[in-house]
Amino acid sequence: GCDGSLLLDSSGSIVTEKGSNPNSNSARGFDVVDQIKAALENECPGTVSCADLLTLAARDSSVLTGGPSWMVPLGRRDSRSASLSGSNNNIPAPNNTFSTILSRFNNQGLDLTDLVALSGSHTIGFSRCTSFRQRLYNQSGNGSPDITLEQSYATNLRQRCPPSGGDQNLSELDINSAGKFDNSYFKNLIENMGLLNSDQVLFSSNEESSELVKTYAEDQEEFFEQFAESMIKMGNLSPLTGSSGEIRKNCRKINS
Ligand code: HEM
Repeated sequence: GCDGSLLLDSSGSIVTEKGSNPNSNSARGFDVVDQIKAALENECPGTVSCADLLTLAARDSSVLTGGPSWMVPLGRRDSRSASLSGSNNNIPAPNNTFSTILSRFNNQGLDLTDLVALSGSHTIGFSRCTSFRQRLYNQSGNGSPDITLEQSYATNLRQRCPPSGGDQNLSELDINSAGKFDNSYFKNLIENMGLLNSDQVLFSSNEESSELVKTYAEDQEEFFEQFAESMIKMGNLSPLTGSSGEIRKNCRKINS
């Protein structure tokens, strides 16, 4: 949530956001954050916040997988709280409609262009079966798959995502190149091969959005430029500065 930190574990009055609906059994890599933080504290104690660390790691993940680079404005401080309700209520779900997802972005100060460009980050990584099963078997409660899902792709997905069981089985968010940051995510959407409902609706539900999908599918440079711009914008959404918050020593717990 925007008023707390995902990195904090439960302790004292803090209820971790790691247990929220979108994050539970999903958000991972906390051990990597701990390793980076330990190296920073070793070199220069109490100086680089966990919030800056994460923002830099996101940029570096893009660069390491072949995506764009950008300058990361620094100086964020760390929250001393977590918000389970914020995490549950403000993060879009993969089965939300286009308008719900757009509202949730708008509520944070992000617009339709940010939504489409940032969703392009699904050019890398994986999703659990449980996040897209509904589309494969029972999209609208009548026992039929989502008609905006390409049929042979759907058949393929059903093999690793059965009607019940296998909740944690992973599939590539970008069937073409899950380890490479490129614009094939947008090409997939045009072929009706977006994995999540929240991916496919960017092409199927809104004129302005589908035009952007086509633009990014045709022009990778344009996507990279907008992605970098939107990442900077997202990273600048009301950070804690000055004497607000703190610079945590350990990303999992507030300083005592
Ligand atoms: C537009 C609304 C979004 C929705 C509904 C959404 C939903 C999801 C879901 C359901 C997964 C799979 C999680 C799982 O099954 O455990 C996922 C993975 C991922 N998402 Fe999103 N996401 C959205 C936006 C974003 C944005 C803005 C970014 C970053 C800029 C992003 C980056 C990622 C990455 C990198 C993964 C792969 C994670 C991994 O392999 O561990 N997503 N997303």
